[in-house]
Amino acid sequence: MPHRIALIPGDGIGVPVTDAAMAVAAKAAPGLLETVSFPWSCQTYLETGRMMPEDGIETLRGFDAIFLGAVGWPAKVPDSVSLHGLLLPIRKAFVQYANIRPHRLLPGVVGPLRKEDFDILCIRENTEGEYSGAGGRVHQGTADEVAVETAIFTRAGVERILRFGFEQAMTRRRKLASVTKSNAQKYSMVFWDEVTRELSAEFPEVEVSHYHVDAIAARMVMAPETLDVVVASNLFGDILTDLGAAIQGGLGFAASANIDPTRKGPSMFEPVHGSAPDIAHLGVANPIAAIWSLVMMLDHLGEAATAARIMAALEATTAQGIGTVPGKNTTDEITAAVLAALEA
Ligand code: IPM
Ligand code: MN
Repeated sequence: MPHRIALIPGDGIGVPVTDAAMAVAAKAAPGLLETVSFPWSCQTYLETGRMMPEDGIETLRGFDAIFLGAVGWPAKVPDSVSLHGLLLPIRKAFVQYANIRPHRLLPGVVGPLRKEDFDILCIRENTEGEYSGAGGRVHQGTADEVAVETAIFTRAGVERILRFGFEQAMTRRRKLASVTKSNAQKYSMVFWDEVTRELSAEFPEVEVSHYHVDAIAARMVMAPETLDVVVASNLFGDILTDLGAAIQGGLGFAASANIDPTRKGPSMFEPVHGSAPDIAHLGVANPIAAIWSLVMMLDHLGEAATAARIMAALEATTAQGIGTVPGKNTTDEITAAVLAALEA
């Protein structure tokens, strides 16, 4: 039985990198994925006033997974509209509470640090915290204007993301870094620290470290090799994973998975990079982050052997120096090299 995948290529470079990833999937395992493509994007918004149809979530519910390219075209649609109309509602509706982002250098990629030996798995809480969307504005446009944005941390939400982090750590080097700012934020972050301590009793083999977000940002630059699994709230995880992308050579290499570990609904896989309107017409978008996200999707779908073959082809490609330097190769050249490596 093929896996049924909803494709949302989206805007800008989301389209060519999604094409590249699907070409690789078709070559690696013909017929394994049955895809249905949805044109939901800022263009759809301009034509219909919505990023996706009213029943968009219900439509997606029937799929085994969602693959998303990138969303956003800020010159025509404000990001606060496009993202709250598509990406963020999907993460919330399907309770994709674990956002997983691997940060390591692929062979042949020279990062900005003088180190190569790091392998970090960032796990970002993806449904609540600072991005809960609770808040409001009063006295808008006047000198008395007030804007309030409330971060929400529930026991259920904090426990499940930390438990997921501990479980991931058990499959890796058994080290977990819990990220807070509990010296300054004395309610939510002290609570997070407490839950980390409670759960660590269930996972005695995992060595737990507590870091403040500012300190771990510095550590990711100065001593990234000391980190294994890093668990952080929505905002902190968002920022740290762009830093993670930077140390792995750039956003062109940063893959991600938005997972519902309970598997009640579809999980979503997407490169971390955005739609990059500035380079979208040049044909030089790096498809590596999208192809790596495909690997994460296949792993999630239980297709570990195919996932491993594609990851090996990706590594063989970068080891030859293809796709390792921004702008050096076109999207098509990099994709062709991965397809060739799959044959070899
Ligand atoms: C990401 C992105 C999104 C996020 C934006 C586009 C809303 O930056 O996936 O990291 O912050 O979640
Ligand atoms: Mn981000």
